[in-house]
Amino acid sequence: MDELIKNLVEAYGPSGFEDNIRRIINDEIASFADEISIDSMGNLIALKKGDGSGLSVMVAAHMDEIGIMTTHITENGFLRFTNIGGVRPQTLMGSRIQFSDGTTGVIYTEKMDSWNGLHGQDKHYIDVGATSKELCPVGVGWAASFVRPFADIGGRYISKSMDDRIGCAVGVESLRRISEVGTTPHDIFFVFSVQEEVGTRGAQTAANALKVDVGIALDVTLTGDTPEAETMAVDLGAGPAIKVKDSGMISHAGLVRQMRSRAEERNIPYQMEVLERGSTDARSIQIAGAGCAAGCISIPCRYVHTQSEMVDANDVENTVQLLVEILSNPITL
Ligand code: CO
Ligand code: ZN
Repeated sequence: MDELIKNLVEAYGPSGFEDNIRRIINDEIASFADEISIDSMGNLIALKKGDGSGLSVMVAAHMDEIGIMTTHITENGFLRFTNIGGVRPQTLMGSRIQFSDGTTGVIYTEKMDSWNGLHGQDKHYIDVGATSKELCPVGVGWAASFVRPFADIGGRYISKSMDDRIGCAVGVESLRRISEVGTTPHDIFFVFSVQEEVGTRGAQTAANALKVDVGIALDVTLTGDTPEAETMAVDLGAGPAIKVKDSGMISHAGLVRQMRSRAEERNIPYQMEVLERGSTDARSIQIAGAGCAAGCISIPCRYVHTQSEMVDANDVENTVQLLVEILSNPITL
């Protein structure tokens, strides 16, 4: 799975421009899924058929990552930009970015009164090495992702866009393991969704179309285990986090109970998650159509929405195991 994770996190795929990620995942799952389709939003939907005794389940992991989009080119060939998703000004200065055609640029900031200060995003610009507007290789409305290679620092993985390529990798690996066993009670739709970072838009249309009984999002969550961190009862390496509540949804209590008992039966370490800021595709899935029983299994992640998001290898493996247990057995809500 490490090779897949590296390929996924290093690939280019800001919200609305997920083509590369869709291609990588499609190649990976082509031999495991019973049916694969791509909807008009760009969601990649892989169906693993059940034996007819279970429910219909949507498992969602988002393919997109945060990034930037150019808004204006100066006479000297510098670019102004807006954010795609939750990009913080603290993460910008000195950052390297890449456009879909491979053009690379660096972000810097206007002069500051003190180096302790911080300008807002609007006072930053991109330098792509151009000397004039005419010679600038990038136009207005071009999207870029950050550039940062994958590293394994002893069982902990760091890279850009762990949010949520790590969820995609968990989805791919779970589908592979379920198809190797051969049977599941449930019709499982693995949805690799688009545009989560700009408001869970892909999952919304997919859930409206699929009309499932159960929805499970796979995404990262914050941890509370770093110096002077915000209080949060999630630690890196302590197992997948079963979401109870975040700022966009309250998980279905029966589904949460079911997730916990599967973890306990199989001695899979887990933790309970209450996230006070942020949400996931589960929010959209829960309230699509007439609604469904929705929840989320989160992979603990430090430094979310920076270019060095960190996850623990054991958490990743345990998330796969927990998801496979849930999906391979009857779900009683
Ligand atoms: Co995110
Ligand atoms: Zn995410």
